[in-house]
Amino acid sequence: MDRIVIVNGPNLNLLGTREPEVYGRHTLADVESLCRAAAEKAGLELVFMQSNHEGEMIDAIHEARGARGLVINAGAYTHTSVALRDAVAGVSVPAVEVHISNVHAREEFRHHSYLSAVCRAVIVGAGIEGYRFAVELLAA
Ligand code: DQA
Repeated sequence: MDRIVIVNGPNLNLLGTREPEVYGRHTLADVESLCRAAAEKAGLELVFMQSNHEGEMIDAIHEARGARGLVINAGAYTHTSVALRDAVAGVSVPAVEVHISNVHAREEFRHHSYLSAVCRAVIVGAGIEGYRFAVELLAA
């Protein structure tokens, strides 16, 4: 079965209680359920992970080789990590970058992403629904 791999970066384990005025009240478990439902509907297997460690995220991206698609919310590493960008570029898997918040309406340091140029699409500011849109896009 084709698989979609979802990689979540630092601090996303705190969703639900972390700055709810920015990220809302949904937890990462809610995000996972939403993605599982979308993947199941499309007949795809789902691998869902979160790590606070850049190297573990890179390993998960490498393990996505051969998958139908990769959804990545790299959290703050989005704005700092050339290594994650190289990992996404290196696996040749169609990738969608997701941010729960509208990073362009926030601090200037969040406006630049090292990942956007190596992703097929970028979804920002759609809340946790952005993950579902990403799964649906990769499934289409
Ligand atoms: C985020 C936006 C990032 O700037 C931030 O560092 C995060 C979450 C989002 O989903 O809106 O950790 O990726």
